[in-house]
Amino acid sequence: MDNRRSFLKKSVVIAAVTGFPVLPSCITLNTIEAQVPLKSKEIKNAAVLWYSQSGNTEKCGIVLAKTLSKKGIKVVHGDLRDIDISMIPTVDLIVIGSPVFYYDTPDFVKGFIQSLPDISGIPVAAYVTFGGPEGNQHNAGCSILEGLVKKNGVPVGLESFMSISSYSLTFKENGAETNNMQISVLPDKNTYIKVRGYAEFILSKVKNGSTSEFKRTLTLREFSTYFGPEWWTKLTVDNHHIIEQNCVGCGACVEKCPTNSIDIDSFSVNTDTCVLCFGCINNCQYQAVNMESNNEKLIGFHEYMEKNNLKFVLPDEIKT
Ligand SMILES: Cc1cc2nc3c(=O)[nH]c(=O)nc-3n(C[C@H](O)[C@H](O)[C@H](O)COP(=O)(O)O)c2cc1C
Repeated sequence: MDNRRSFLKKSVVIAAVTGFPVLPSCITLNTIEAQVPLKSKEIKNAAVLWYSQSGNTEKCGIVLAKTLSKKGIKVVHGDLRDIDISMIPTVDLIVIGSPVFYYDTPDFVKGFIQSLPDISGIPVAAYVTFGGPEGNQHNAGCSILEGLVKKNGVPVGLESFMSISSYSLTFKENGAETNNMQISVLPDKNTYIKVRGYAEFILSKVKNGSTSEFKRTLTLREFSTYFGPEWWTKLTVDNHHIIEQNCVGCGACVEKCPTNSIDIDSFSVNTDTCVLCFGCINNCQYQAVNMESNNEKLIGFHEYMEKNNLKFVLPDEIKT
């Protein structure tokens, strides 16, 4: 499976550097399918885990978890970094959610999946939230399933939910200062209906004992992941540090940073290890994270929402 993918990957890179003009759109890079039989058609316990930087993936995860709970399933749910992974092999269903970052699932989510123990025969499902229609979301979800199948999970579902973008560089280009922009604040009521439907779909798949195959296909965005888009983007961002006068020392930036790149005592950021996920600027309530592009200070997700008077519609599962 991997060999075919890496072979195609190399072929595409060679084709690109030798001047191959157009990317074929229907090439399957690899097929993700069960390597072991399903352990059971019954689900008594489930784990719904996510990484969420600005709340979109979390909201969908809560709706998924609560929909499963309503069916009498005991569900452990929450941020994947807070979970005791030794309990994972004891559940009857695992669902993992992630935002799409740079056209893929972020490495630290992949790393979490790699750290899981063997989950032989347990049904596994993935979901991603993403900010743009061309976000390579299907393939990003495939990254989650690939990792889970390597641990012998049995794939039953993959879904993506369009959300408001949390990508700081977009705010600067299109955002707060140009208030005529029509922005949909997703996830919303219809997204949550889709999420509940996805939970039902997963349950019916397992109950029927039917597993699924998922194909990672070659897209232009997939192709661009081979060149590390975050590293290229980093070249355009300067002066990344913590603004001492604004910082209240709450530690939100340190907590959200997946690579421990922030030293709050010296108000400095290790830009070599930073993966430009914007977790610091997106989660600082005090505008204490400085990042600049073309000599303009970037704004974070909360500031962007506030400046544009944008508000989320919360699902009933969170309101109650
Ligand atoms: C660093 C970064 C990179 C992103 N890259 C993409 C992308 O490649 N494609 C896309 O559709 N959305 C992209 N987004 C938008 C997020 O996927 C989207 O807003 C997601 O719902 C955020 O989830 P969260 O609120 O759970 O963190 C990116 C956001 C960030 C912060």
